[in-house]
Amino acid sequence: MMKEKIEALRARFASELSDAKTPEALEALRVAFLGKKSPVSDLMSELRNVPKEEKAEAGQLINSVKSEIAEAIAKTGDKLKAEALLAEIRSAKKYNPTLPRRKKSGSYHPITLIQREVEEIFISMGFTVEDYPEIVDDYHCFEALNIPKHHPARDMQDTYYIENGQLLKTHTSAAQNHIMRKYGAPLRAIFPGRCFRNEATDACHENTFFQMEGIMIDENISISNLIYFMKSMLSEVFRRDINVRLRPGFFPFVEPGFELDISCLICGGNGCPSCKNSGWLELCPCGMIHPNVLRDGGIDTERYSGFAFGLGLTRLAMMKYGIKDIRDFNSGSLKALSQFRSN
Ligand code: DAH
Repeated sequence: MMKEKIEALRARFASELSDAKTPEALEALRVAFLGKKSPVSDLMSELRNVPKEEKAEAGQLINSVKSEIAEAIAKTGDKLKAEALLAEIRSAKKYNPTLPRRKKSGSYHPITLIQREVEEIFISMGFTVEDYPEIVDDYHCFEALNIPKHHPARDMQDTYYIENGQLLKTHTSAAQNHIMRKYGAPLRAIFPGRCFRNEATDACHENTFFQMEGIMIDENISISNLIYFMKSMLSEVFRRDINVRLRPGFFPFVEPGFELDISCLICGGNGCPSCKNSGWLELCPCGMIHPNVLRDGGIDTERYSGFAFGLGLTRLAMMKYGIKDIRDFNSGSLKALSQFRSN
């Protein structure tokens, strides 16, 4: 008797389950079949009237149909949820999660990388990093640097002029006067920046390039301080001991002025085609700041002296990364630039 009833219940459940097409219908079915007042609870009550010897078997049958129903409901619930999600995905037009994600992360420009690296090194040696505009006036770019009007040194620094008489700075030295006036002495500062010159471009010349100027002003500053700081910085940038040498060089804003060479990175100083067999590479003009420049910057020249250097950041990046053509920097070529992942 009990067996037939259980079979009938199974059949009824199976047919009603196939009609349950929504989570709500399924929940109603669960309550109807497994709830407090349901065919299953009725069967449990009827168990009382079953003869003793059949009770155990009947009890087991009721329990197993009960768990069958519960399991079928849970499974159908999962299926309905998955179908609902799929329907949502199909109807959503903007976002298609089945498309492969192509993650294209950008990379820093090699000039940015080298600039940050050199900045870190100078910061660790007590220098501050200063900013300065790219559009400057004649006074800051030339006059305050001991380059009066009609001085021949201006010929090498032709640039782009704006109608109001201002110009695009030809060198980071243009900030020297402003920074001396801002801080006074003693002073240690570097100021990286983009510079411009009206020049025909080739593999070594660009109309737009980057420099990093540095000045240190204090009592008893001499050329040995200059050599020490440059050697320390360059040895860190190139991660090896770098030898430097100074040759005389002329720049109106320093006296004496120098060209600083470093031992060739390829041959280590023995001579090779890269250094034209000299063992040295020209890297950075520098010198002791001219008293006229200090005075214009409001510095007491009786008490203080200082050195300055104009590091070619673009040139340094070419050396460090082995870039042969300066025009690659501004080419916007992702193939070239994406090789410089920040680390
Ligand atoms: N401003 C110079 C240039 O771009 C480079 C330079 C030379 C900077 C000597 C300096 C220096 O600070 O001492 O040609």
